[in-house]
Amino acid sequence: MIYLDNASTTKPSEEAKKAALLAMENFGNPSSLHRLGMDAEKILKNTRDAISQKLSVDAKNIFFTSGGTESNNTAILGYARANKKRGNHLITTAIEHPSVLEPFKILEKEGFEVTYVMPKKDGEILVEDFKNEVREDTILASVMAVNNETGVIQPISEIKSVLKEKTKFSALHVDAVQGFCKIPIFPKKYGIDMISVSAHKIHGIKGTGALYVGDGVNIKPLINGGGQEKMFRSGTENVVGIAAFGAAVSNFKGIDTKKREELKEKIISNIPSVVINGSGNNSGYVLNVSFPGIKAEILLHSLEAKGIYVSTGSACSSNKPMPSHVLTSMGATKEEILGAIRMSFCEEDFDIDFVVETLKNEVENIRKYVR
Ligand SMILES: Cc1ncc(COP(=O)(O)O)c(C=O)c1O
Repeated sequence: MIYLDNASTTKPSEEAKKAALLAMENFGNPSSLHRLGMDAEKILKNTRDAISQKLSVDAKNIFFTSGGTESNNTAILGYARANKKRGNHLITTAIEHPSVLEPFKILEKEGFEVTYVMPKKDGEILVEDFKNEVREDTILASVMAVNNETGVIQPISEIKSVLKEKTKFSALHVDAVQGFCKIPIFPKKYGIDMISVSAHKIHGIKGTGALYVGDGVNIKPLINGGGQEKMFRSGTENVVGIAAFGAAVSNFKGIDTKKREELKEKIISNIPSVVINGSGNNSGYVLNVSFPGIKAEILLHSLEAKGIYVSTGSACSSNKPMPSHVLTSMGATKEEILGAIRMSFCEEDFDIDFVVETLKNEVENIRKYVR
């Protein structure tokens, strides 16, 4: 099996699985005052430390959540609602993950004005375009670090400079679910106020995430109850997932970005009429290719039959079968959108020539059939 769908989810690492099993044995509730509780609390501390070290921040600013979706919802809804008096304008981009776009739609219904900045054809947000939309009453911007469909890196620190220049006070939230551990993300250096991360994209297990919240950033909690996570996110913590998260962060080895380049070049030179989506500043972890005239889902299943696992657009968009909003806003044609597959990589090596050869054969077969 060649698994090239790591932007959807990754295989849990051996270290993450071991840590999770151990945490199941040490089954205490971190809020309990006895030794079992303290052991569980220690697991939370270790993971908080591992995440904060990666981001070069203080561990007290890391809060656990149920994943990237909850982190994004908490940051956006929680911040806008807590800071409504400061201004009514919010800004984001048209290529964000649905877990960012949907909270903004909710906020529009609550009376906020939201601007969605469009990307360039190469998948990057132009800082100048962003700057033109920032207003004096902008209180929050949310821009992703790495796009999940194209792998394109967005100019986060330049965006913060624009916010500083044009507003008296505006927070920056970064959805770093696809960038955490993979590209340098340092909130203090870049002036980021909130960062969302998720465990299952870096060989942890699903249903675990975290939100970095900078000092003095005021957020209204979404989940209320027993006051865990310093009242910020109630509910007994997912100790098993958090244990695996810590192990995943500590053992993340990094991905060889040359693989994407080699695969891309070989696809271009071996298969006619292909379009590479996301030619902007690419992280090197995602390769999005269109085969116009082919239905991506058919190609996906024919590759699957040969043991190669890819995705059409993002996993989330396969829940709602709609054309990719990311490729649409980048100006791709309908044929390019319907024929786009995403290959996303992890640290494990794979046979690039086999993937290219199989792609070439399957694309040729489908094209013959379509004609
Ligand atoms: C950019 C981005 N943000 C947020 C999420 C949601 O993360 P989770 O699956 O942990 O809820 C994803 C998942 O694909 C993502 O790619």
